[in-house]
Parts: sequence; C-alpha cells; structure tokens
Amino acid sequence: LTSKTKFILAPLQGYTEKSFRSAWASVFAGIEYAVSPFIPLAEGSRYKLAHVRDVLPENNISIPVVPQILGNDPEKFVVLSHLLQDLGFETVNWNLGCPKRSIAAKKRGSGILPYPDLLRQILDRLIPKLSLTLSIKTRLGYQNPEEFYSLINVYNDFPLQSLIIHPRTGVQEYEGNMQLAILRETITEIKHPIIFSGDITDKASFGQISTLFPEINHWMLGRGILANPFLPEILLKRVQLNDENQIRQRLLHFNNELFFQISGNIGKEKFILNKMKDFWSYFALWFANSREIFTSLAHQNDLKFFMEKTNILITEAGLSSFEGRGNKQLKT
Ligand SMILES: Cc1cc2nc3c(=O)[nH]c(=O)nc-3n(C[C@H](O)[C@H](O)[C@H](O)COP(=O)(O)O)c2cc1C
Repeated sequence: LTSKTKFILAPLQGYTEKSFRSAWASVFAGIEYAVSPFIPLAEGSRYKLAHVRDVLPENNISIPVVPQILGNDPEKFVVLSHLLQDLGFETVNWNLGCPKRSIAAKKRGSGILPYPDLLRQILDRLIPKLSLTLSIKTRLGYQNPEEFYSLINVYNDFPLQSLIIHPRTGVQEYEGNMQLAILRETITEIKHPIIFSGDITDKASFGQISTLFPEINHWMLGRGILANPFLPEILLKRVQLNDENQIRQRLLHFNNELFFQISGNIGKEKFILNKMKDFWSYFALWFANSREIFTSLAHQNDLKFFMEKTNILITEAGLSSFEGRGNKQLKT
C-alpha cells in the first residue's frame, strides 16, 4: 500500500448503476471513481434515457463516473463521445471485455480480441477524431491468453488514458483461474498506466496480486465490493471492524438507501423486488449462514416483507467475517 494506491469501482451491468453507486457512497468510502456499465452504440443520438441518466454528472455527485462504450463502429463511437463530451466528460472507456456470446459473435466486447488488425483499423479511424481521452478495458484474449501478445502491440501504438486488464479470456467469462503468468511476462512492455481488474475480494487476495504486480497502483473492485461493501476501507486500512453494532448500523443504512435509490429509479414493485433480490445474492454473504438466508429470501414475493426481513437479518443474524472471504454469488 503506497500513497499512489487507488481503488476504482468496476462496471457490473445490472448492479453498479447509479442507484448502487450513490447508496454505497452515502455509507462507505475509498473509491476514486467508477466506470459505468456499458452503453451500447446506437444510431445517431438514439440513446436510451436510462443510459444517459446513469452517467449524467448531476446524478453522480458522490463518485465521478467514466462512461463505458460497447461496439465496434468508429463513426458511431465518435458521435457518442461528442455527446458525452458535451455533458462534461473528459474520458470514455471502450469495452473490449464483454464475454457474452451474442455480443462477441459480432466482434464486439472480447469478440474483437482475436482480430488485432481490425482493432488497429478501428483505433486508426477513431483516435484522430476523438477530442476526449480514451481508456480501454480488455481481457487477455477471446479463446486463448496468447492473443495478448499481438494486442499489446496495437495498444502500445495509440495514446490511452489507461488500460484496464481483466486477466481472463472471453470464453472463461468470469470463472476459472485468472491467467496471471502471461500478464506478469508482458507487463513491462505495456506503455500505458495499468488498472488491474479481477478477484480482489479481501486483504489476502489483494496482498497476493499486488505483490505479484508491484508496478500496478490502480485496482478495480467489482464482485468483491458487492460481497463486502467495506472492502476499499479494509484494503486502505481506514476501518476497524471490531464494533459489531457499528457494522450492522452501516449495513442497515446501506440496504435502506439502496432500496430508496432503486425505488426512485424504477416504479414497479415487482422490478424493485427483483433488483433487491439480485443484490442479496451477494449480500447474503454478509452472514454466517449465507446459503440458508439466500434461499429463504429467494421465496419472498412481497417487497415490504422482503425489506423488513432483510433489515431484521442485518440487525440480528450472525455476521460472517468481513476481513477475509470470497465473492461467490449465490444462485437458486
Ligand atoms: C454481472 C457482471 C456484469 C459485468 N458488466 C460489465 C460491464 O458492463 N462492462 C465491463 O467492462 N465489465 C463488466 N463486468 C466485468 C467486471 O467489470 C470485472 O472486470 C470482472 O467482474 C472481474 O472483476 P471482479 O472479480 O472484481 O468482479 C461484469 C461482471 C459481472 C460479474
């Protein structure tokens, strides 16, 4: 941990939109900025209101946000980045990591990684027309991590604000071991400031990864923060988690603030309930008997009861350790 160490909130589509970002920031600290879940490129200026609202600076007072763009059309990319620039943004992020089959099949997200020449052509057409800075979020490759060797040559030939690396391949999606050997082997060849994204869930995992990559100062936290909202404070050594009452108070505040934010964002009770359930597939990990808790909540179909129940859990149920543990989302 040095004075240069910074934590950035990862884009997690369906989770780290503005409701979460603002609720989290009203209770917890230690995040420098967030990258938004991706905005897919559209025709002209036909963007969904929800996507625009999500990144609008006035809706992101507590944590500044860098908008992320998904697509492979440089002309559309320029149009969207001009719109974003007019809203006051100075940097946009390009998503070259999304592993979803339907997206990758169209050479978008991680689907572009096996085609370094195409990537170069797009950047050749994009960069000269871009009047804000570009950062890229990439994986090591789509099929295999050796694709990274050619990708580095392309990335190195363009000015990038930063290169965010999730050291898996597209076909791995979010599971299986990260392929750290290739990143270790190539890291000194990369000319851009690097942000590491993947599997930082506690002090132990952060210790291991940061020891392996002493040249990295910026770390992205994703699922780890859903499973443990204290994570940045723990890693920055800014919190003492020995007052159980205080832990419960903060979690309670967070749960209710998240509910409040989501309710203001989507109207229908059914949607609000489903959204809260999605979050609780990670929040159940706050407790010792997480599996049991998750199962009992999955069956709730009344929003008011759901919120009462979760608040009682936070007040009374046995907590798990926030100092060290994983981030495995619970599934029915
Ligand atoms: C549900 C989910 C949604 C995600 N959505 C995005 C996204 O919109 N854009 C992106 O670049 N990465 C996305 N990611 C990848 C994360 O930003 C991150 O790189 C990855 O989860 C590894 O980091 P973690 O182990 O800290 O979560 C998503 C991951 C998950 C699990």
